[in-house]
Amino acid sequence: MKPQLSITINGQACSVPPGINVAAALALHGVEVTRVAVNGSPRAPLCGMGICQECRVNIDGRPHQLACQTLCIEGIQIVTGDHA
Ligand code: FES
Repeated sequence: MKPQLSITINGQACSVPPGINVAAALALHGVEVTRVAVNGSPRAPLCGMGICQECRVNIDGRPHQLACQTLCIEGIQIVTGDHA
């Protein structure tokens, strides 16, 4: 069995397999909303290739990071828009 990475999603400790990106980690743990639009509508990853910008989350205190373009690393802290 491959070792798992320990990450935090919205303050909750989680484990994910190595090589997974942040968008996939969120989906794996049932987090559907990445950000909230200015009109209050929930948004989620759409394109998966860095174009739509719908997957923006806060990663290690840095806002507006693309979840679909960021690989998980040990200890990464992810905060989604509905928990910001
Ligand atoms: S899902 Fe479209 S930019 Fe990440």
